[in-house]
Amino acid sequence: MFRPPSFRSSPDQPSRWWWRPFVFLALAFATELAIMQGLPLLLPQLPWWQLAALDAGLLTVLLAAPAWLLFVVPLERLSTARGRLLHRVLSIQEEEQERITRDLHDGIGQSLTAMLMQLRLMQSEPLPPTVDRQLVDLRTLVGSTVEELRRMVREGRPPVLSDLGLQPALQQRFASFVGNDDFSIRFDWRLPEASRLPPAVETAIYRIVGEAVTNAAKHAGASTVQVMISRCVAGVQAQIVDDGRGFVGRPNAAADRQSFGILGMRERASALGGSLRIESQPGRGTTVEVIIPYDGAGHSSLCCLGGEESADG
Ligand SMILES: Nc1ncnc2c1ncn2[C@@H]1O[C@H](COP(=O)(O)OP(=O)(O)O)[C@@H](O)[C@H]1O
Ligand SMILES: [Mg+2]
Repeated sequence: MFRPPSFRSSPDQPSRWWWRPFVFLALAFATELAIMQGLPLLLPQLPWWQLAALDAGLLTVLLAAPAWLLFVVPLERLSTARGRLLHRVLSIQEEEQERITRDLHDGIGQSLTAMLMQLRLMQSEPLPPTVDRQLVDLRTLVGSTVEELRRMVREGRPPVLSDLGLQPALQQRFASFVGNDDFSIRFDWRLPEASRLPPAVETAIYRIVGEAVTNAAKHAGASTVQVMISRCVAGVQAQIVDDGRGFVGRPNAAADRQSFGILGMRERASALGGSLRIESQPGRGTTVEVIIPYDGAGHSSLCCLGGEESADG
């Protein structure tokens, strides 16, 4: 079972940092004292203002290394650990979601379909009118439960993502938007046909593109969304352009605090060392662009950096 890492035992936990400013101040005090005592003895001929300038310069140079060691290095370590943790949490979430989706589809879904068939069979027999009415109600109920389940399976992590990869998974996802005449998706896959990316990269792009297209359908009133997946110097790039109403400023600031879509997109990109850019103008649509670093040899940059578990998702 997954155990969340213990924050208390982490050497870089900020609550254990209280001593660092004191050590730094003590060092600054001792260094300044030594300089103030030593400089006039070593260079007695210098005027006071040159001594003061030399004092300040020496102090800055001497304190740069301790400041780096005491603050910058641990902060960098903390930031890398946070990235790894985020990546791990997202991977576990995805694995869990895939398991639930499979269970829903293969377990409950099949049982419900079998129930529906049984009910149909029962209705083909002559039955008292009250029982027949109850059977119709029951069939309607089971039918709508199957529909609800299908929706959950569609929106959950599709097994096709692990089995066949990003391109077919996205095609399947986009197909769920079809049926609305006022909304179309143009999908431009510019990577080699059926090529696979590291699992974590595939998952991140699948989720980000899914959210951006959902936003275009839900908020933008867009009629066309163009999705392009291509290779770029840094890794792999996804661009989602809609022709909807757009928005001004930071979207999450305007939206209520329950809006986690864009926040989630950013977190997913940054968990893999990537970046997300959103450009929008009222009446002129929205462009979402995400770049996930990827070395082309099957590794996302975070995996190379961490040298740890294979990127899963
Ligand atoms: N493509 C888009 N076109 C217009 N508005 C958008 C678009 N994407 C996001 N928004 C705005 O940004 C807000 C936040 O989006 P998001 O974080 O995905 O949360 P949610 O979809 O749950 O509202 C939305 O409520 C909407 O007002
Ligand atoms: Mg959203």
